[in-house]
Parts: sequence; structure tokens; C-alpha cells
Amino acid sequence: MIQLCQSSDIQDPGAKGFSDDNYNILVVHKDGQFYGYRNSCPHIGVPLEWMPDEFLDKEQRLIMCANHGAEFLIETGECIAGPCSGQSLTAVPVEVKDGVLYAEISE
Ligand code: FES
Repeated sequence: MIQLCQSSDIQDPGAKGFSDDNYNILVVHKDGQFYGYRNSCPHIGVPLEWMPDEFLDKEQRLIMCANHGAEFLIETGECIAGPCSGQSLTAVPVEVKDGVLYAEISE
């Protein structure tokens, strides 16, 4: 498990990206829950965001890929619109312990 940040550092609803040499992930906070995914669009395998931490659509209801507009369900990572419809983001297990957010990164 790697430590990402305080759970309160991500607004609800909101999202944040985390990366280093070994990983690039995003975590979405919605309705008190946290959802982690690899920051790689199933369309062509590039990061989703156009600006740091900008992973959600305007209404903060879906994860959006800034490259060609694919939209993903926050809860499952399933692509429901766009060029990779039917495919999914790869989930990354996350958990909160004592107010700290952790992710399980597999290499
Ligand atoms: S790279 Fe995400 S929709 Fe094309």
C-alpha cells in the first residue's frame, strides 16, 4: 500500500491524480466513497486529464477523457460513451485508514 494524501484533500465530489515513476492513478471522491483507477484511457492508453486533477465532467457525475471525450462511470470505470464504449478503466484498490488515503499499486 502506498500513502496518497489525507482523505479530506479530495473534495466530494472531486478527483485527484497521483503519479511517480512507477504509477499514474486517479482517485475520485463521490458520496463519501473513494474510487481508484489507473490514469490510462482504454482508447489509446494515454492519461485522461487536460489539466492537473481535472478528471470529471462539468456536472462532476462522470469521469471524462479530455483527449476524445470518452465518459466513464465513477463507480465502475465502465466507458458509457465515446470511442472506447464498453471498455473500462482499470480499477486500483484504495482505502481510507485514520483519515489517510492509501492505494494498492501492483507493478
Ligand atoms: S484517448 Fe481517451 S477517448 Fe481517446
